[in-house]
Amino acid sequence: MRRPILAANWKMHKTAEEARAFADAFLPRVADADDVDIVIAPPFTALESLAWTLRGSSVALAAQNVHPEEKGAFTGEIAPGMLQALGCRYTIVGHSERRALFGEDDAFVARKAAALLARDIRPIVCVGETLEQREADRTFDVVRGQLEGSLASVPKARAEQVVVAYEPVWAIGTGRTATPETAQEVHAFIRETLVRLFGEAADSVRIQYGGSVKPDNVDALMAQADIDGALVGGASLDPEAFARIARFETP
Ligand code: 13P
Repeated sequence: MRRPILAANWKMHKTAEEARAFADAFLPRVADADDVDIVIAPPFTALESLAWTLRGSSVALAAQNVHPEEKGAFTGEIAPGMLQALGCRYTIVGHSERRALFGEDDAFVARKAAALLARDIRPIVCVGETLEQREADRTFDVVRGQLEGSLASVPKARAEQVVVAYEPVWAIGTGRTATPETAQEVHAFIRETLVRLFGEAADSVRIQYGGSVKPDNVDALMAQADIDGALVGGASLDPEAFARIARFETP
C-alpha cells in the first residue's frame, strides 16, 4: 500500500509571519490525520519560521526548488545542504513554471533530483503536458520523455524515495481539473514507465496529481488506483481548504 501524500505548493505567496499564522490554523485541523503524509512547500524566506512552527507535528517541510551544486558562485541560488540543515524532507523539482518561465530542462532537473537524494531529501519531480501537446496527442510521449530525462540519475535502490507529480499544464491555476479518469489514464502510464525504469520498486513510488485540486474534487481523484496524492497550489493557501484536501474521503 502506498501512503497518500498531500503537498501544498505555495509558490510565491506568504511571508514568514503569514506562514506561521497558516500553521497555527492548519495544524489543529489535521492533528488526527495519521494515515497520510502532509507536506508544505513555502517560499525559501518562510522555511525557517515554518520549520519552527511545524516542529513536533507530523507535517513535513519542503522547498519549491534547489540548485544541484553544494556551494559556489551561484548568486541567488540555494544548495541541497542548506535545505537539509533547515529540516526539509522534500523538495519540488521541475515544476512546469520553472520549466516554462526559467528555462529548466530535464537534464538540469535530473541533477537536482540526484543532489537532493544525496542529502536524503525526497524530490517531488513534476511532469506534465501543455494544452497544445495534449491536443496534438503527444501527452504520453511528452510525459515519457520528461520521466526518462528527469529521473536519469536516480538509482533503482533510491526510486522509492522519489515522488512524481503529474501536473497537466492546462489544469494549473485554471480551475480546469483533469477528470479523475483522464488523470488516472496518465498516472497508469507513468506507473508503466516507472516499472520499465525501476522494476518492482515502481510499485512503491507515489504519484501525485496536481492542477486545480480543490476540496470538492479531491475525493474523486484520490479514489483512482494510481493517484497517490495531490500537489496543490491555490487551494493550499487556505488552512481550512488544505485541511479538507489532506483529509480526503474515498469510498
Ligand atoms: P493550482 O492548484 O493552483 O492549480 O496549482 C497546481 C500546482 O501547480 C501545484 O504545484
